[in-house]
Formats: sequence, structure tokens, C-alpha cells
Amino acid sequence: MSDRRILVIGGAGYVGSHFCLHARDIGIDVGVMDNLSKGHRSALRCSHFIEADLNSFQEIYEHLSSQTYDTIFHFAANALVSESVANPSIYYSNNIIAAYNLLEAMRLTRHDQIVFSSSCAVYGYPVTLPISETHPRNPISPYGRTKLAMEWMLEDYHRAYGIKSASLRYFNAAGCEPSSGLGEDHNPESHLIPNVVKAALKQTEELVIFGNDYPTHDGTCIRDYIHVTDLATAHVSAMQKLEIAGLVQLNLGTGVGVSNLEIVKAVSQVSGVNLLPRYASRRAGDPSELVADSSLAHKMLAWKPCRSNIKSIVNEVIEWFSNNPDGYMD
Ligand SMILES: NC(=O)c1ccc[n+]([C@@H]2O[C@H](COP(=O)([O-])OP(=O)(O)OC[C@H]3O[C@@H](n4cnc5c(N)ncnc54)[C@H](O)[C@@H]3O)[C@@H](O)[C@H]2O)c1
Repeated sequence: MSDRRILVIGGAGYVGSHFCLHARDIGIDVGVMDNLSKGHRSALRCSHFIEADLNSFQEIYEHLSSQTYDTIFHFAANALVSESVANPSIYYSNNIIAAYNLLEAMRLTRHDQIVFSSSCAVYGYPVTLPISETHPRNPISPYGRTKLAMEWMLEDYHRAYGIKSASLRYFNAAGCEPSSGLGEDHNPESHLIPNVVKAALKQTEELVIFGNDYPTHDGTCIRDYIHVTDLATAHVSAMQKLEIAGLVQLNLGTGVGVSNLEIVKAVSQVSGVNLLPRYASRRAGDPSELVADSSLAHKMLAWKPCRSNIKSIVNEVIEWFSNNPDGYMD
């Protein structure tokens, strides 16, 4: 892989930093562009860092005019479903207008390969489970709609300008690489596993689960947790796939559903702390169950998740928060 040079936009964030770590470890020359709005300087794992904002077309255009990258990875986005419902303006601006700036800069500077962080949120309420790529794309939140809009832009830019793209629809990213100093540190944190772990470590006061009246075996929502390093290996395979295919849209999950209550029990078991959650009412736009059919990714990318066991994920997250009770230092 040592002949590859890539730019990772959003590489100071949670999923992006883990991808950079993996890409760097297999010999790829990794550059990161990030505005550090949500990311962390100490999560950077790259050979060069450009502090820049995708909302500025000029900044990205100037950079891409002066450099050549084989593939651009686009992780940069706002990603809180409930915030997107309350304040869609931020989402249409940062997830669509900024992404359009990137695509335009790529087109004008003849960069023709991009891997995009899409989401299972493009599907909306599942009509069939597990969800395959043929499931209708019918998002129910502004966040999901911005991800779908970017997928449409990528389809059109491929058809008209030959820009090759992989839209990778993650289900729930989880886990971390504590031995390499990488964890999950969002503010606010909306993801379940770090919040349950913080409750076990007494770093938060209360553990809240939204809804226990869903039509699932224990009444709580079911999600599909995929390890960030499994996501990283899929991104590398997608980059290679693009060299022979023009447009790829793939689910990335494990195919195994885990309920919110099962996560609480797993953290209780691993930490030895008996956690008793408070149940609050359902959150708007939370489907009861989201589980991926990722067989297409297995086939097309010759990829399978191998790090996504829930207990080992919980162990890693406990290790990271034990070592970093206040998250990243910068
Ligand atoms: N975490 C998940 O479970 C999950 C699931 C599905 C999809 N995704 C998608 O994966 C991507 C990464 O998610 P994450 O959890 O790592 O998010 P994150 O917030 O941790 O990382 C996003 C990074 O992008 C940077 N950024 C945001 N806007 C920018 C801009 N305009 N210019 C430059 N940099 C900018 C932030 O500073 C941050 O470092 C997002 O696109 C998200 O929608 C994440």
C-alpha cells in the first residue's frame, strides 16, 4: 500500500481517526483535513495535517490544486439525529453545502475517487429486516436526508464527470483502540456504549435509556454495532474496489442485533457494576430495530468484520475511559 497517498477529511474525529491509524499502519501516506469543530488534535494519526473548513470552497480548492491524492475519504459531518430535527440548518449547511464544495473542488482539480461515510439513516423505518441495499431509501430525519442527498450528488457526479465513489452506510460504529491512544469522545455524546461505560465508571450521574415499550424482545431498541477498525478495513477495500468499479453503495454492519438493555447488561458484567437505567420516553425518529444485511460488502470487498464482539468492544471502551476520564486533552 506504500504507493498510495490519501486525504482524510474529518480525520480528527472518532471514525476518521481510527481509519487513519489503520491506513498509516498498512503503509499508506495519510493527510488529514479537519476544522477541529468536533475532532481532537491528539486523535490525529497522519503524516500531514491541514486545519481547514469544508465550508470554505477556497481552502479546499487551493489545497487540492497544490496536491495529488489517489483517494479522498469524507468523514466530516454533523451526526446527531435529534439535533438535526431541532436545527436542520446546520445539517443542510455542513453535510450538503460543504460536501458540494468538496465535490466541486475535486472535479476542478481532477481528483476522481472518493469514499463517503454514509449511514443506515438513509433507509428510515425498516420495511424488511435485515436491511439490504435494495431497501427503499426513505430517511425520516434531516440527518438521514442530508446523507441521502450526498449519495445522490455522488451518483450524479459519477454519471456526468466520472468521479468514482463508494458510499459506505455504517450502522452503529463502536469500539476503539486504547492501546494506540484512540477512543470515542463526542460532546455531547449520544452513543449508547460510551454513555453506559461512563455511568459504570461514575463519570456521569445518570444512565438514561430512551424507550422500553418497543416491539422487541425486551422492549428496548435493537442496533447493529460494528467496530471502527472493521469499518477501517472496509474503507481500504472500498478504495481498492473503486480502482475497478465506478460507483459502490454498501451496508457495513455485523447482521447481529443487540438491544439497549443487552448493552447495559454487557457493561454491568464486564465492569462488575450493577447498572440500573432510568427509562425515558422514546426519542423521535428512533426505529425499533436496525440490523444490516452486509452480504454485498462481504462479496464485493472480500471483507468481514472480525473485531465486533460486544464484550470485547465494551472492554476496550472501559479501558479508554479509565485512562482518559476527561476524554482527549486537546
Ligand atoms: N459514529 C457512528 O456511529 C456513525 C454511524 C453512521 C455514519 N456515521 C458518519 O461517519 C462520519 C464520522 O462520524 P464520527 O462519529 O467520527 O463523527 P465525529 O464528529 O467524531 O467526526 C467528524 C469530524 O469531521 C470534522 N468536521 C466536521 N465538519 C467539518 C468541516 N466543515 N470541515 C472540516 N472538518 C469538519 C469534525 O471536526 C470531526 O473531526 C460522519 O459523516 C457520520 O455521519 C457515523
